[in-house]
Amino acid sequence: MAASSPSRKRALDEDGDAATSAAPSAKRVPTVNPLNGRPFSSTYHELREQRMKLPVSGFLDDLEKRLRTSQVVIVEGETGSGKTTQIPQFLVHAGLGTEAGGKLVGCTQPRRVAAMSIAQRVADEMDVKLGEEVGYTIRFEDVTSDSTVLKFMTDGMLLREAMADPELEKYGVIVLDEAHERTLSTDVLMGLLKEVLARRSDLKVVVMSATLDAGKFQDYFDGAPLLKVPGRTFPVETYFAAQPERDYLEAALRTVVQIHQSEPEGDILLFLTGEAEIEEACFRLRHEAESMPKELGRLDPRPLYSSLPPKQQRKIFDPAPAASVPGGKPGRKVVVSTNIAETSLTIDGIVYVVDPGFSKQKVYNPRVRVESLLVSPISKASANQRSGRAGRTRPGKCFRLYTEKAFHEELIEQTYPEILRSNLSTVVLTLKQLGIDDLVHFDFMDPPAPETMMRALELLNYLGALDDEGHLTQVGERMSKLPLEPQLARMVLSSSELGCAADVITIAAMLSAPTPFMRPKGQETEAREAKSHFSHPEGDHLALLHAYQGYEESGFSQDWCWENFIDSRAMKQATSIRSQLENIVRRIGLSVTGMAPGSRGYYPLIRRALTAGFFMQVAHLDRTLSGHYLTIKDNQVVQLHPSTCLASKPQWVLFHEFVQTSKNFIRTCTAIDGDWLVDVAPHYYDLRSFPKCEARRDLEIIYLRKAQELKKGGGRAAAAASSA
Ligand code: CDP
Ligand code: MG
Repeated sequence: MAASSPSRKRALDEDGDAATSAAPSAKRVPTVNPLNGRPFSSTYHELREQRMKLPVSGFLDDLEKRLRTSQVVIVEGETGSGKTTQIPQFLVHAGLGTEAGGKLVGCTQPRRVAAMSIAQRVADEMDVKLGEEVGYTIRFEDVTSDSTVLKFMTDGMLLREAMADPELEKYGVIVLDEAHERTLSTDVLMGLLKEVLARRSDLKVVVMSATLDAGKFQDYFDGAPLLKVPGRTFPVETYFAAQPERDYLEAALRTVVQIHQSEPEGDILLFLTGEAEIEEACFRLRHEAESMPKELGRLDPRPLYSSLPPKQQRKIFDPAPAASVPGGKPGRKVVVSTNIAETSLTIDGIVYVVDPGFSKQKVYNPRVRVESLLVSPISKASANQRSGRAGRTRPGKCFRLYTEKAFHEELIEQTYPEILRSNLSTVVLTLKQLGIDDLVHFDFMDPPAPETMMRALELLNYLGALDDEGHLTQVGERMSKLPLEPQLARMVLSSSELGCAADVITIAAMLSAPTPFMRPKGQETEAREAKSHFSHPEGDHLALLHAYQGYEESGFSQDWCWENFIDSRAMKQATSIRSQLENIVRRIGLSVTGMAPGSRGYYPLIRRALTAGFFMQVAHLDRTLSGHYLTIKDNQVVQLHPSTCLASKPQWVLFHEFVQTSKNFIRTCTAIDGDWLVDVAPHYYDLRSFPKCEARRDLEIIYLRKAQELKKGGGRAAAAASSA
C-alpha cells in the first residue's frame, strides 16, 4: 500500500483541498491526475462535464460533512443519479477514513457483472487503467494491484475477505451499494460491519440504496443520518395488458416490434429472466428486423446477462445505429436484460420499457433442502423500478404485460430478502469461522427461519464441519478456506485423502464455471455428437473431467474448443479456478495427487470422492415407480435430466443439482456404489433414522453383507492366528 500513499498526499498539496481536487465541481479544472501524476486525457474532461450534471454531485460535500461526524451514512437516491459511479471515487479524493495509513475504499455490488462494469466506468472517469488505482475482485478473479485505492467487489467477496481479515483492516471506507436488494451476503455484511464499527472508530460505512425503504436501514444502523438525493426523472406513462398474456415471451417480442413500428425515436429495454430466453429473444428480433422496411431504421437487439463476456456486455452502452437510408428514421437499440438493468446498471437513452413481470428468483425449501432458481412474478417495488428506467432522459412509456388487476392483487409489495429464501450452510460456515457461535443472537436485519438455520447446522454437522456442540472442527476450518459451497469443499478435502485430488479439483472447478458444452441453434446434432466424445457411461461429472483433460491436452487451445463445441470462455475460467483451488489445497498442507487417467480403479476412486461430499444428494432407483428415482430420505420423485450421459439407470446416483420445472429433474449425475454411502457416511445412512423405502431395504442388505464379510474376515484372521 505504501506506493499509493505519496500520490494521495500529492492531491492534498496540489489543490490544498483534497475533497474537491478531482471531484466534479465548478472549481478550477485540474490538469494533472493526482492519483498517478499523469496529465488528464481529453476523455477525462468530457466525462467530467457529464459527471458534474449528475444529481448526486451537488450532495457530495454534504456527504463528506456527515461522514466526518457519523461513522455510518445512508444514501438513498433514484437509479441513475450517480451514486455508484460518483460516491466511491469522491471518497477516495476526499481521503475520508483513508487518510491515516493508506487504506482502501471498497464498494460492494450484489452482482459480478455490475462490479466489473462499474469498475471499468469509474476507472475511465478517474482516468486510470482498470486494475491499477481502480480495480475489482469477484470470486476467482482479482483485478487489483498494489496501487489500488478503490476496489469494487461482489458482496460475497468482501464476506470472504472478512474471514481472513475479520476487522477489515485494509479498508478505511466501505460502501455497501444496492443495499435495497437485500442479498444474502449484504445482509450478513451489515451484521458483521455493525460489530466491526464498534471496535474500529476509524472505519466509515456508506449504505446506498435505490428509493426504497431507507428508514429500515436507518433504524438498523441506530439512527444513522440519511442523505436523500432527489431524482431527476421524467414522467413515465404506464400501460397494462387488457387480458392476461399466455406466453410472455411472445407478447414481449410483439410489443417490441410494435414500439419500433409506431413509436417515436428512443431505445427500448426489455426485461427477461435468463440467458437462454434472452438469446432466443435477440435471435428472433434480429430475424424480424431483416424483413422490416429500411426507412424504419434498424432494430438492434443487445443482450445483457451475467455470463455474457464483458466486451459484449459493454455494447449495451453504445449508441443506437444511425438511419439506414438517407432521410429514414434512425435505428433503435433494444437492450434485452435480466434484472440487472433494474437498478444496478443505468443505460441512457431508454425511453420504452417492456416488463413481462417476471424474474428468476432463488427459492429454498428447507424441508427437502432444495434451493432453486424459479421464474417468479416480481414485486410491485420491482415493477416500479423497472418503469422508472423509461424516464431517464425524457418522458417515456412502460408496457406491462400483465393486467392492472394482477398488479394490484397478485404482486407482493417488496421482494423478500434473500436470507429468507436461501440455503444458509455457506453463511453459517462463514460465521462460525469468524468466531460467531451464537447465531441466534446475531443481529440480522431480518432473522432467517429457524428451520433453515437448523438445516444448515445439520448439513455442516453431517459433513463433519461442525461437531455435535456446533463448534467448528478442523475439517470445517479447512472447508471454509475453499471458496466453494460446503459439499464441494468436503469433496475436495476427501479426494486429497483418497489420492485423487488432482482430478476432483478439476471437477470442482468445472462445476464452478459455466457449462462448457455448447448447443448453438441449428447445430444441435453436431453439438450432441461432439459432446458424446466426452461422455462416460458412469456419469456427467466424468464427462466434465474429460472435457477439461481434452482441453489441457490440446495445449489449452481455442481452436480445439471451437471444433468440439466447447465454450472456450468457460474453459478459461475453469482453468483459472482450478489453479486457485489447487493452490489453496496445497497451502492447507494437503497433497494434490492423482492416478494415471484411465488406469484400473481410476474412475471408482474419483466417484468415491464425489460421494464423500455429496452423500446427502443421492437418489435411488425405484423399481415400483416405473424407472423413476426417489431422493434419499426426502423421497422426492425425480428423473434423470435429459442431458445426462449416463448409459443406463444405475441403482444409486449422486446429483449436483435438483431442478424444479414441470417435473423434478436431477442434473449432473454420476453412478455410485451403495457400499460407499455406508463407508463414507455411516452417520447419515444410519438405519435407525432412515424412513421405510426401497433404498432402506437395499441398505439393510449392504449392512448385512458387510457384517458377514467382517465375520468371515475375522474368522480367517483368527484361523491364521491360531495356525501361526
Ligand atoms: O448508482 P446510480 O444508479 O445512482 O447511478 P450510476 O450507476 O452512478 O450512474 C450514473 C450515470 O452514469 C448514469 O446515468 C449513466 O449515464 C452513466 N453511466 C454510463 O454512462 N456508463 C456506465 N458504464 C455507467 C454509468
Ligand atoms: Mg448504482
